[in-house]
Formats: sequence, C-alpha cells, structure tokens
Amino acid sequence: MLETAPPLSLYIHLPWCVRKCPYCDFNSYRVGTGVPESTYIRALLSDLNYSRSLVGDRVIQSIFMGGGTPSLFSGDGIRTLLDGVRGSLKVAHDAEISLETNPGTAEAHRFQAYREAGVNRLSLGVQSLRAEKLASLGRIHSGREALEAFQLGRQAGFDNINIDLMYGLPEDTVEGSIEDMEQALALAPEHFSWYQLTLEPNTPFYHRPPPLPHEDIIADVEQRGRDRLRDAGFQHYEVSAYAKPGLQCRHNRNYWEFGDYLGLGAGAHSKITLPKKRVILRQAKRRQPGAYIDAAGTPDSIETEYALMAEDLTIEFMMNALRLTQGFASELFTARTGLPLSVLNPALNLARQRGLLAVGPERMQATAKGRLFLDNLLQLFFAPKPGQGTNIVNLKL
Ligand SMILES: C[S@@+](CC[C@H](N)C(=O)[O-])C[C@H]1O[C@@H](n2cnc3c(N)ncnc32)[C@H](O)[C@@H]1O
Ligand code: SF4
Repeated sequence: MLETAPPLSLYIHLPWCVRKCPYCDFNSYRVGTGVPESTYIRALLSDLNYSRSLVGDRVIQSIFMGGGTPSLFSGDGIRTLLDGVRGSLKVAHDAEISLETNPGTAEAHRFQAYREAGVNRLSLGVQSLRAEKLASLGRIHSGREALEAFQLGRQAGFDNINIDLMYGLPEDTVEGSIEDMEQALALAPEHFSWYQLTLEPNTPFYHRPPPLPHEDIIADVEQRGRDRLRDAGFQHYEVSAYAKPGLQCRHNRNYWEFGDYLGLGAGAHSKITLPKKRVILRQAKRRQPGAYIDAAGTPDSIETEYALMAEDLTIEFMMNALRLTQGFASELFTARTGLPLSVLNPALNLARQRGLLAVGPERMQATAKGRLFLDNLLQLFFAPKPGQGTNIVNLKL
C-alpha cells in the first residue's frame, strides 16, 4: 500500500530556442520574432496556481528549468518566476535550482541575475568543442563561445555547473571524442551528462541520417571516456551522468528514484503520488506554447491525465531505478509503488539466471552485462498484458 508520498521536485519547461537543432526531439520551437516572455511567465504562474492543489504543502526539494533554451529568458523574468514559485509553494531552503543554458545565449549580466534570483546550478549545452562537429549538429555557438560561457558561469558565482557533451557524432573518431572530453575536463565542471547521439523519430537526422560511427568505435569511445572521467574523480552514477562526490544532480536523481514531480509549462509532465486515494497520477500539459498559454490555469491546459495501473508500476519503476549504477535499496520498490517485493520474484529469478541483475539482501543493481543489455533486462519486468492506464480526467482531486 502507498503509505507516504516520496520527495517532490518541480520542473518548469521553457520551450523556445534560437534555432531548432536537427537531432533534437524536445518540445522546443524556433523563437521567431522573440520570446513572449511576460505572457509565458504569467501563464506559468496561472498554471502553478491551478496545479498547486495537487501537492498541497509538500516541500519542493529541487527546481529544474529546462527547455528549449531557458537562457533566452531575462534575469528579471527568471526572478519573477522563482519569486512566484516561492510565494506559492514551500521550497526547501537548500533546494537545488538548475537552469539549462545554450552557450550561444550566454551573457555575463544575465548569468549574474540568474544567480541572484536563486539559481544555484547551471547546465550548459556544450555538445562538442570542435568547429566541424558543432556545424554538423547545427549548433549556434563555437567551441570558444562554449568555453567562455562556462567561465561566465563561474564569474557569476556558479560553483555547480553541468556540461552536456555528446559522442557518436557524424563521422566521428575515438580521438576526436576524447579530445572533446579533455577540453571539457580542463574546465573542471562538477558534473557531466555524456550522451550518445541518438536518431530520434520526427527529427531531420532521423529522416536523413548523417554517417554515424561504427558501433566498435562507439564502444571504444565509451570505454576510454568512462576511464578518463573516473580518473578525473567523477562517479558514474547513472547511464549518462557523472558527478564529483556529493554533486549528483538531485533533481534527476529524484526521477530515477521514482520520486514525484510537478511539471509546469508547455508539454510538461507531472507524476504525483496521492496516498489517500492510493493513486499515482500522471499528467501532461498542452504541448503547443500558444495552446498552453491560452489554457493555462484552467482544466483545458491538461492534455492527458491518468492513474498508473499496478501492472505498469513495476516497469515504470525499473525503467528509472535500474539506470542508476548502484541500483536501488529493495525497500524503495514498495515505498514508491505500494506493491510487495514478491511481485518481482519471477522476473528477478530470470534476470539473475541470465547474469543481468545482482540481487542482494538490501539492494538490487544491474550487473555490467545488465547495463550493457539494459533493454533486455527491462523487458523481463513488463507485465504479460501491459495496461494502458485508467483515464481519470474526471477524477475529483
Ligand atoms: C534541452 S537540451 C540543453 C540546453 C539547450 N537546449 C542546448 O541544447 O544547449 C538537453 C540536452 O539533451 C541532449 N540531447 C538532445 N537531443 C539529443 C539526441 N538526439 N541525442 C543525444 N543527446 C541529445 C543534448 O546534450 C542537450 O544539451
Ligand atoms: S538548443 Fe537544445 S533544446 Fe533547442 S533544439 Fe537544440 S538541443 Fe534542442
């Protein structure tokens, strides 16, 4: 049974970018004539006012402003937004507050204003530092601008900076990928998100794939990159996440530990546990910024809403928790899903027999083989007849 609600995070989606990158499937839109900043912030605050009944007086542990390119918003805009959040929800005094930044939009006074508004973690979308690769990715900034953006972040007082870096880029080599990593390491960030470039449906790269490196090259890059990050003092704590000790991303960790989150903004998702109703609710807001702005603060802003069904809970929990290198404490499964650990037994036995999962008295974690074949491991936890969720649009909350 679901007894208590888990930790709670807040996600705020800011959906505009200077230009749409050809590999990107995020809910983001070319900015055109300019960001409708004050209109959108008003819509976010109406959304907050409407959605806050879902979380009552629960304390927000982390806030993540993601995109799109949140750094297109002014310092005053971000301050108004965060002041509105703090005025409406209980935010922990030591909450992690992150903001995603594209180096092509970095400005010193803006970064300072973000810091003064309460942002305490910057996430910088660097991707690569090589001119030719940045061009093939359709990025709006040079390698030098990315390095400068990092230094601007430091000068503005950010002591917790993440760098997004990608590998497996068009026509890439092992040496080239490692060169990117060495240059990024020289900046001494606190955190790396190191992603393999994937061809996402509905993107130009998917329809006209660029020449990607062979899988042997990818495997070599991964091996050398992981070793290099470990030697530089980073802990590999999730499939793509590496942190200096004590500096793991609390916001993302809460997703991976199947915690709760309230989502504000175009296309933002929420997952909220309602212990009294014995329900875990999933909700998504309208995706199109115009439709979202028009509907924010009303029931019409919600595009989908359903309660997770018991048979979906297991796979949803595992899809998150097994991404963590250290796996999860066994008791977390029941605490987050309300299901007894025994429902896992058939899948656990198979996973163990196949050498994909290590099951101890207190923890479960994917083995090295399990991490390599994560999809095969997860497959074992699908319910025989996956449900579609119960539509509860009319549920009185
Ligand atoms: C919302 S963006 C970060 C901030 C900003 N929009 C930017 O790109 O600079 C999130 C990150 O997801 C990663 N990403 C996006 N699409 C990807 C793809 N197809 N394959 C791998 N990583 C991807 C990129 O590293 C990107 O920085
Ligand atoms: S800037 Fe970031 S969010 Fe925008 S299109 Fe590029 S990768 Fe996607």
